[in-house]
Amino acid sequence: MTASTLPDLLEAHERAAQLRHTIAQHDYAYYVLDAPTISDAQYDQLFAQLITLETAYPECLTPDSPTQKVGGTVAEGFEPIKHSLPMLSLQNGFSDEEIRAFDQRCVDLLQQETIEYACELKFDGLAISLQYINGVLVQAATRGDGITGEGITENIRTVRGIPLRLRAAECPDILEVRGEVLMFKKDFAELNERQAAAEQAIFANPRNAAAGSLRQLDSRITATRRLRFFAYGIGAFSGGELPSTHDGLLQKYSELGLPVSPERAVVQGPSGLMAFYRRIEEKRESLPYEIDGVVYKVNRHAQQAQMGFVSRAPRFALAHKFPAQEALTTLLDISVNVGRTGAITPVAHLAPVRVGGVTVSRATLHNEDELRRKDIWIGDTVSIRRAGDVIPEVVCSLRDQRPAQAHPFIMPTHCPVCASPIERLEDEAVARCIGGLICAAQRKQALWHFAQRKAFDIEGLGTKVIDQLVDHDVVQTPADLFRLDMQTLCALERFAEKSAQNLLDALESAKHTTLARFIYALGIRHVGEATAKNLARYFGKLDPLMQASVDVFLEVQDVGPVVAASIVQFFTQPHHIEVIAQLRHAGVHWEEIDPAPRPLPAPLAGCIVVLTGTLPTLTREEAQKQLEAAGARVTSTVSKKTHYVVAGTDAGQKLVKAQSLGIPVLDEQGLQTLLNTPLPVLEDLPSTKD
Ligand code: IVH
Repeated sequence: MTASTLPDLLEAHERAAQLRHTIAQHDYAYYVLDAPTISDAQYDQLFAQLITLETAYPECLTPDSPTQKVGGTVAEGFEPIKHSLPMLSLQNGFSDEEIRAFDQRCVDLLQQETIEYACELKFDGLAISLQYINGVLVQAATRGDGITGEGITENIRTVRGIPLRLRAAECPDILEVRGEVLMFKKDFAELNERQAAAEQAIFANPRNAAAGSLRQLDSRITATRRLRFFAYGIGAFSGGELPSTHDGLLQKYSELGLPVSPERAVVQGPSGLMAFYRRIEEKRESLPYEIDGVVYKVNRHAQQAQMGFVSRAPRFALAHKFPAQEALTTLLDISVNVGRTGAITPVAHLAPVRVGGVTVSRATLHNEDELRRKDIWIGDTVSIRRAGDVIPEVVCSLRDQRPAQAHPFIMPTHCPVCASPIERLEDEAVARCIGGLICAAQRKQALWHFAQRKAFDIEGLGTKVIDQLVDHDVVQTPADLFRLDMQTLCALERFAEKSAQNLLDALESAKHTTLARFIYALGIRHVGEATAKNLARYFGKLDPLMQASVDVFLEVQDVGPVVAASIVQFFTQPHHIEVIAQLRHAGVHWEEIDPAPRPLPAPLAGCIVVLTGTLPTLTREEAQKQLEAAGARVTSTVSKKTHYVVAGTDAGQKLVKAQSLGIPVLDEQGLQTLLNTPLPVLEDLPSTKD
């Protein structure tokens, strides 16, 4: 937005209100209805427009603006919040008998033959309470010990699915919504990838990631974490009418703009409960977030109220938990697996055991140090854990049950696949086969990585075909794939003319790709999908990326020194350059994009601000310090080059001059907004008046 296109204040107010409304509608469609109507890029554009407008006209900024979800406050700690009604826990049940017993207790207490239940998911996140007064979110707290939680209002305000204002003309005076904050599996994987790239701590599971993100003192960090929320309960309520059932309440929540999981049902009696459990058990892996069971609640509120409590849990509800994700078994043997980059991973061979509904006979032991630290011997009884769709792992061994014939594992000195030496660098936990692409195991993995959906997405090129291609020495590098022909393929087992043609067609169409996919497909150590996207966005083209130095890579979002060094190291290897040249020669291509504008060294770099008059709380020096810390230049005279004038009381001539030049004037609140709102790009600041 430039000076010539800056609207007047009234227009700006109208436009900001319109944008807020449109964005709120899209948030509702995305987070509540799960049916977005615009692309992410279109949404981002609307959002950027609103930020630009609010930056130029801080008067237009309202507390419920979606731009306030970017965070901005740094807390010194979390203040204790006493819940107006305790946040209770749930009784648990595991077996069919326990579920029948729960139903029988409800039947007895309510003196009714068949009870109506509302069934929902048991989300594996963190319980929180949201307080809406007259429809506006005023306070959020964690569950804590159920009596007192921690105030996390600022962090919760950044959670995109949580409305800052409810969608209703008439709202209850007080409505305390209870529910779960969690992280979707996909967002968890991406977060860990970003954390790894930036050499930050990795989270063990989505629940820990959600908890860690909610307890950030700097709400701007929480804002980057893509937390989600599902409402499932109610606390304090006054000034309005409540639906008479739990299901009705959730329906009402959805209408108010609060996300509610669609995975729910109203059922009759224990057979309905069991059917819901089985349906969700089957769906569990395909859900985008983790759950650890289902929850049954007597549907009628009047009946719930009749039933009372047992040890801090209401009698009207029961959590039907999924079987434990851990089990004991015998460690029969340990072999090693050779990864794409030569990493040697010890793999446990187990006496088959059921864990969380599947039979497990292999589990990872991560690396040699881990094996020693956990003191795991072949022959031990070990505990196995499976979480979601991650590879099962050996948690620990029961040393007091160690049989006499048990013995420790000795790491091989040579690769079991190519017989090259296995080496371990001093500061690395992982041992590696140094065979590189000589090693068939590494070649196969590199090809598999290259062909997978997130990379070249070559349909029909699965592990079995890759095994054949490598074992028959037909393919050495990814570039060889594009030289395959009908005759070569048909000479291989299991290939007929049709399947060979399908693979050739898939290879042909895979040649048209994107730079991000291409970078990811190269299999550079530490460069996952998210990092590849950041690199593509930053460089726009491959050649400058191939020639860049560590210092340049460090400018790329989420790239730390280890990742930067790994990329530089990759491109110093002549055979990598050769394979890239061959791939291009074979016709692999992508659209080059304009590199993203380089990030500004500071959010207000290049911005010129004049301070005048007395601000309500900040001294002139404090305001100047904060502005300079954000990269702005504070000058004393108002000129056409000035971007903003911050005016307090008794502002005098500088204010008059600013107004005559049409320079945006901010009060102290506007200054805070300017300091805390990331600007899109410098070009979007109101332009200098020529
Ligand atoms: S209701 C009145 N519903 O489970 C009981 N809790 O063990 C209050 N949870 O701290 C909770 N999904 O974190 C309820 N659909 C659901 C839930 C749920 C997950 C968690 C919640 C709570 C714990 C209780």
